[in-house]
Amino acid sequence: MTEHDLKQVFFQFAVKGDFAGAQLLKVGHINDTYLVESDHNGTREQFIFQRINHFVFRDPERLMANFEKITRHIRAKLEKTPGCNPDRETLNLLHARSGGCFHVSPDRDYWRAYRFVGDAHIVNVATKPEEAFEAGRAFGCFQKLLSDLDASSLHETIPFFHDTPRRFARFKQVLENDTHGRAREARDAIAFAFEHEPMAAVITDALAGGRVPLRITHNDTKINNVLFDNRTGKAICVIDLDTTMPGSSLYDFGDMVRTTTSFAAEDERDLARVKLELEMFRALADGYLEEAWDFLTPQELDLLVFSGRLITFTIGLRFLTDFLEGDVYFRVHRPDQNLDRARAQFALVRSMENLEKAMDECIQTLRGKAGRSASRYRS
Ligand SMILES: Nc1ncnc2c1ncn2[C@@H]1O[C@H](COP(=O)(O)OP(=O)(O)OP(=O)(O)O)[C@@H](O)[C@H]1O
Ligand SMILES: [Mg+2]
Repeated sequence: MTEHDLKQVFFQFAVKGDFAGAQLLKVGHINDTYLVESDHNGTREQFIFQRINHFVFRDPERLMANFEKITRHIRAKLEKTPGCNPDRETLNLLHARSGGCFHVSPDRDYWRAYRFVGDAHIVNVATKPEEAFEAGRAFGCFQKLLSDLDASSLHETIPFFHDTPRRFARFKQVLENDTHGRAREARDAIAFAFEHEPMAAVITDALAGGRVPLRITHNDTKINNVLFDNRTGKAICVIDLDTTMPGSSLYDFGDMVRTTTSFAAEDERDLARVKLELEMFRALADGYLEEAWDFLTPQELDLLVFSGRLITFTIGLRFLTDFLEGDVYFRVHRPDQNLDRARAQFALVRSMENLEKAMDECIQTLRGKAGRSASRYRS
């Protein structure tokens, strides 16, 4: 993208003033992100411009409809809540001059733009309990702000995203074909997968049977999707809303457990190093429940510890399936990397199984924690 190209995109959005420059911030898996500056009679403003990868998201228009609905809902609540700053605590989309909140370029690229949140930073990997606490609190708050928006009013932009039984069926099919003759090498991981098959349907069954509610969930709850305030160090805003859609709160919490409570690399080969750090889990759950305790049902609370195991197992199963299939989905930088990733995820599941009692006690203590106040956000 040249500056000239970006300038053309800039003028498609309702920004006062002139284009004053742009820089590429990040080429991500899904988006290319630019920081764009405007100049209005000497006053400079910054914006984020993102080009959505429509090869990954087949239906950017539905994705943007979700995005708009979510951010509008959150903003309306923040506006009614004393002490909140709606310009910093949610993403604020710019209007496109053609109407709506996105622009389609002549070569069919989809663009969106929103206000840049200044004086903030990203934490790439959680290394301290305080960071895990803040990440948990940020996503708990995000879910809470959306807990009264009808989940069925959003589009399911990636169907069957968290459907573990479906992922398991696919794994079996790929294993049966074993087109790359890799099953022998992965015997240990395959045995682990079959040993854990009974857990696959617990949350999908609970959702289907109405025992846990369908909610609006973020679905990419890595800590690097939270902006932290430079001054206070506190989480201020959840970003990267591309995968926000109907789901279970347990998927979000489970993926946070998977990504913030272990210090080992995703493809760690020394499996003795792959373990859940209880301190990190306690902090994460504490932050999450600070916001989520008053809207989660007892059934959801009962499944929090399990959700960490299930999501970690599911990701491991996907790595294993991809290894067997010849590394077609997850990019590899060395041979056997997807098998190592699968083994590391499964080792983390084992660690969670060994620590189940301690994790349960953590949640019990947090559930009983005195002084949790009722929601401060108004509908
Ligand atoms: N409103 C914002 N204010 C300040 N910085 C932002 C804002 N939105 C995004 N960023 C920055 O841009 C980066 C990329 O944003 P985002 O997370 O939406 O896309 P992404 O991580 O590239 O997506 P993916 O990796 O899934 O493709 C963030 O890590 C953050 O540094
Ligand atoms: Mg991101």
